[in-house]
Amino acid sequence: MNVIATVEQMRAEAGRARRPLGLIPTMGFLHQGHMSLVRLARSESETLAASIFVNPAQFGPQEDLASYPSDMDADLAKLEGAGVDLVFAPSLDEMYPDGFDTYVDVGRIGERLEGEARPGHFRGVATVVCKLLAIVRPDRAYFGQKDVQQGMVVTQLTRDLNLGADIVVAPTVREPDGLALSSRNAYLGTEERRAATVLHRALLLASDVAAAGAGEIRARMRRLIESEPLAMLDYVSVADAATLDELKVVDRPALVSLAVRIGRSRLIDNMVLQPQDREDR
Ligand code: PAJ
Repeated sequence: MNVIATVEQMRAEAGRARRPLGLIPTMGFLHQGHMSLVRLARSESETLAASIFVNPAQFGPQEDLASYPSDMDADLAKLEGAGVDLVFAPSLDEMYPDGFDTYVDVGRIGERLEGEARPGHFRGVATVVCKLLAIVRPDRAYFGQKDVQQGMVVTQLTRDLNLGADIVVAPTVREPDGLALSSRNAYLGTEERRAATVLHRALLLASDVAAAGAGEIRARMRRLIESEPLAMLDYVSVADAATLDELKVVDRPALVSLAVRIGRSRLIDNMVLQPQDREDR
């Protein structure tokens, strides 16, 4: 496995790599969610690249950039064990040198939900992903359903700016009790970790009451979250899975998503509800 720190060298290595070339962008502190993307990408790529870069442009001023967990040695061991060929791990200066002054302005898909709750977040994500795709020029880039809106923003960005990669979105990996794996779960204390199952419980409740309409789904989810003393609801949404417009009835694929604060962690999760067949009503 070749670990590369400079844009110039990464471009050169990727340029002579056997294709198809797959890329998995990450911020490190890798867990089984990341590794499921690595396994999928490994099975579809001749050459497999991953990046590790904690991107300051996507963190708000009050967010956890300074304390974002990292363990480069463990990450490299995991990637090597999974058969990754190239790891791009640039410094801050390499990605954002003095004089850096261009950002990607995302459209309406990036303005809802996480975009509304975290102003500038998707601008930062889109900018760094655009840079990574320009440096590596992969045939396919892999993202997780856990960050569903990120996948939508990246798909739109890749299409609009003709970046020439296929964007693959892979299923969310969960703990046995339903909690979606996340690097930020590392912040949770024992009681908070138990409380964090409330996100998945709220999604299961949504699928149980899907026929009742979107307003009722949101109300039931809100009540469940409020019944968990350690949890502070940020938002719940039942939206058209293609446009992210809020729905009244689940008459098309609906993205049910939520963000909840538990202690100092802000956790997100989602699932897609399919409209029920006529016979089921
Ligand atoms: P990071 O949070 O490290 O996640 C890297 C990739 O792993 C993302 O595509 C994310 O959706 C996926 N992922 C995280 N948890 C997952 C889980 N439980 N199951 C499946 N996939 C999961 O997302 C980012 O980094 C950054 O925003 C990045 C795209 C690298 C741009 O900086």
